[in-house]
Amino acid sequence: MPSIAQRLMGNPLVSAVYEGVWRPVFTRIFSLGGSGTAEFDKAFTAYLARAGERTILDVACGPGLYTRRLAANLTGTGHCVGVDFSEAMLARAVTKPHPRTSFIRGDAHRLPFADDSFDTVTCFAALYLIPDPLPVIDELIRVTRPGGEVAIFTSVVTGLTSLPGVKTIGHLGGYRFFGRDEITDRLRLAGVGRIEQTVVDQGQFVLAFKD
Ligand SMILES: C[S@@+](CC[C@H](N)C(=O)[O-])C[C@H]1O[C@@H](n2cnc3c(N)ncnc32)[C@H](O)[C@@H]1O
Repeated sequence: MPSIAQRLMGNPLVSAVYEGVWRPVFTRIFSLGGSGTAEFDKAFTAYLARAGERTILDVACGPGLYTRRLAANLTGTGHCVGVDFSEAMLARAVTKPHPRTSFIRGDAHRLPFADDSFDTVTCFAALYLIPDPLPVIDELIRVTRPGGEVAIFTSVVTGLTSLPGVKTIGHLGGYRFFGRDEITDRLRLAGVGRIEQTVVDQGQFVLAFKD
């Protein structure tokens, strides 16, 4: 059953204000008690948006704000595909066409792609609102080619997110705060050898390199 947060993402009003209001507000919430999430986000995305001829899959792409940024410096036949299960989000994504992006509707639990299809697979700000998120990590790895990378941005438990009120409000809204090793442990279980995890304020950025 979809969480409240997932249902909100299917609402045309939320999708209309997502890029300009919702995402910036949530970035600030992630930065509470620090100041680095937005800055790290820029560096992380800049690395992922490096120039080159690569294929990228942006899972749970929303209105495509990162899909376009990831595609911006691609060369040759390089291409970035955004996948999301919200029709409303995808309707917004296609209002800003980019020659190196395309969008497809699909569930992150069953990505509509063959094994080893993409050089880079990203999943930003989505795992924490998916009720059964760990199998999604296996899917991200499955569709990444050997030698490719998976990049994840999601929540992490901190002193702030452990406060009873914050935890309860989060859970009621369908948001999950991942334990410090929950994501990396699942990546290891999926057979990934090299993992880089950076915790910034309430967020964690994870890069996993598929052998
Ligand atoms: C908070 S938005 C994140 C959008 C974008 N990645 C970003 O960083 O701003 C979360 C997105 O995850 C999508 N989503 C949630 N569960 C999903 C699932 N099981 N399969 C595909 N997309 C899903 C929602 O529809 C929503 O567009």
